Amino acid sequence: MDADLPADLRRGLEQLMEGQSQRALAQRAAALSRRYREGGRSADAIRDRDDALAYALTRLPATYAAVAAALAAAAQARPAFAPRTLIDVGAGPGTAAWAAAHRFPAIADFCLIDDNAPLRALARALIKGVDRPALRNATYAAGTLKDLVAEPADLVIASYVIGEVAPSALADAADALWSHAADMLVVVEPGTPGVQVVRNLPVFGYIDQEGHAEILFEDAQPVEFGEPLLVIE
Ligand SMILES: C[S@@+](CC[C@H](N)C(=O)[O-])C[C@H]1O[C@@H](n2cnc3c(N)ncnc32)[C@H](O)[C@@H]1O
Repeated sequence: MDADLPADLRRGLEQLMEGQSQRALAQRAAALSRRYREGGRSADAIRDRDDALAYALTRLPATYAAVAAALAAAAQARPAFAPRTLIDVGAGPGTAAWAAAHRFPAIADFCLIDDNAPLRALARALIKGVDRPALRNATYAAGTLKDLVAEPADLVIASYVIGEVAPSALADAADALWSHAADMLVVVEPGTPGVQVVRNLPVFGYIDQEGHAEILFEDAQPVEFGEPLLVIE
């Protein structure tokens, strides 16, 4: 298992794997990767608990590393940034929330949202064992981006989500993300067709008018894909 994952997350994943057939999980993981490669959304790729577990074991370490790298770069660019509230959109197993919890210890309020029931269940099982009480008490809503009714948060993260949004829904998705970001929006989409989608998001069009800055981390090296990470501040 990935040495860069925080110990409590690694422990949680190992507990979930206990008693599971390695061979069956490997088969699930292969099928999962095939479905993603064929352009499937998570709704097509992750249909039950074992699919969710396969995601957590095969993709989560890389998506965690990518989010952690983006947040490290964001913290370097804004050393005084100390968010107290977080929204993790399309949170899946809670990857970005875990990375944010470890990067920004002042976060006291975690709000996660996703429409995939097996991934939500997996996230709930994982955060039960987290060391940070604030993350343990996270709210995790069932829903899509358009159901996002939470109050704006200091930090909003969309990790590997935008690439799954239908083209006709992208403008609304960008507005929902941007309008919920009180201070910083981090969009992580390296190495998927979503990279170009992120570059075309309407929020990139009005960043300057609103006086915000866009930071592109061309040199960030995500574990899996090698594409740039994008952070909008
Ligand atoms: C590839 S997974 C990424 C999960 C997690 N953010 C990560 O980085 O590991 C994509 C997630 O986005 C969710 N998703 C896709 N479209 C969504 C939408 N319109 N609103 C909310 N969640 C969405 C899926 O259910 C899935 O959990």
